[in-house]
Amino acid sequence: MSFKSLFDLVVVQVLLNLILKDFHKAEGMSNKLPLNEEDTELDKKLKILNKPLTKFGETYDCVNIYRQPAFDHPLLKHHKIQMKPNVIQGEQIDDSISNMVSSVIWSKLEGCPSEIVPIRRTTKQDLVNAKNLSNRIKRRHYVSVQPFAEKVYYGGRDKISISNPSVNPDKFSTGQIWIQNDPVEELNSIEFGWDVYPELFGDNKTRVFGLWTADGFKETGYYNMLCAGFVQVHPEYSFGEYIRHGTYEGDQRVFYFSVHRYRESGNWWYINGVTNAKIGYWPKEIFTHLANNASVIGYRGAAGADLGEPTPPMGHGYFPNTNSTYTCCMVDMKVFSDRGTYLSFDTSKVHLDHDAEKSCYEFIFYGRHIYHGIMIFFGGPGGDYP
Ligand SMILES: *[C@@H]1O[C@H](CO)[C@@H](O)[C@H](O)[C@H]1NC(C)=O
Ligand SMILES: *[C@@H]1O[C@H](CO)[C@@H](O)[C@H](O)[C@H]1NC(C)=O
Ligand SMILES: *[C@@H]1O[C@H](CO)[C@@H](O)[C@H](O)[C@H]1NC(C)=O
Ligand SMILES: *[C@@H]1O[C@H](CO)[C@@H](O)[C@H](O)[C@H]1NC(C)=O
Repeated sequence: MSFKSLFDLVVVQVLLNLILKDFHKAEGMSNKLPLNEEDTELDKKLKILNKPLTKFGETYDCVNIYRQPAFDHPLLKHHKIQMKPNVIQGEQIDDSISNMVSSVIWSKLEGCPSEIVPIRRTTKQDLVNAKNLSNRIKRRHYVSVQPFAEKVYYGGRDKISISNPSVNPDKFSTGQIWIQNDPVEELNSIEFGWDVYPELFGDNKTRVFGLWTADGFKETGYYNMLCAGFVQVHPEYSFGEYIRHGTYEGDQRVFYFSVHRYRESGNWWYINGVTNAKIGYWPKEIFTHLANNASVIGYRGAAGADLGEPTPPMGHGYFPNTNSTYTCCMVDMKVFSDRGTYLSFDTSKVHLDHDAEKSCYEFIFYGRHIYHGIMIFFGGPGGDYP
């Protein structure tokens, strides 16, 4: 499997200057505003642009949608922003929430006016950490399900239970979907879901993330909006947000994750299925092999650490169980088809992959449940496995 070599050793090579260049500049925008604007109008805009918002006690900057970090990408100079995905005949985005588990509701940001999007503020420490991260090789272990009945995929979605595994500062643990197209040395991929990654986010909270590359992380791509690429359109929700988690033996919470490519624009949209909110998209221009379709889609739990370090807990940190009170799961796993609809996949044509000792991580592929769709239960304490 071509993804493996990259997967085992994730080498994220993002240079600090690249990030610094790409990082949005909320200040210093005033000189770019149209000259014919009235002074008061300018002042008003400046005030909006520079007004930080707080959400969960964190700072978000209101950034003009046309001047967000994405447009620092050289291939997006002439990109025409797509405010909404094209509606496809017969497309069904199911808004219903399973009653098996309670949903997670993102708290709304109040205050970003139209044409302004919230972007989590990046601190100097974040950039120092990112630079440090990019210089180290991380190893990750995973459990995964990969359907293979189709040759091409246009996206995927599922509901993932949100947990908050205990993760040391230099480690990470995630529940995610990934979409990719080969070849491996020019890997094009998008990963999305939740992640606990203190070195990246500055704390041990469970956060929504998106990660992309168009060249196997050689020159392009990174997390969230830390490098140019992702175009945010939603005025309230954005990557890096903290989401409330459930607990082992307690209430479970799920979050609906979905990314799919719209045929007409070719852009890969990230849509939060709880409210069906269209958060934004990775434009087709930034990709090579993913411009048309994906050849691989997978659903996985993964946990990573520096080489030689034990990997942290996955999911709730306990081995899976089919009783949802005791397990982390992914349910309603679907792929986006060429017909523009989400479909279940053939559960007899899946690669079930497991790259660590069963004493570290385990998963149960349930197959298709009559109410909850295709399900997987996963987790484990992690440990010292090379
Ligand atoms: C997360 O960090 C806080 C503050 O440092 C700590 O109190 C808490 O126990 C940590 N939680 C986990 C799950 O590691
Ligand atoms: C880089 O990360 C490693 C591992 O967490 C840490 O030991 C080291 O001090 C960090 N270096 C800097 C410059 O932050
Ligand atoms: C899928 O993408 C590949 C790589 O870009 C392309 O060669 C192929 O023709 C595409 N297939 C379809 C059905 O669009
Ligand atoms: C799951 O576990 C809970 C708590 O022990 C129990 O009340 C419930 O009946 C179990 N559900 C199933 C389907 O076994």
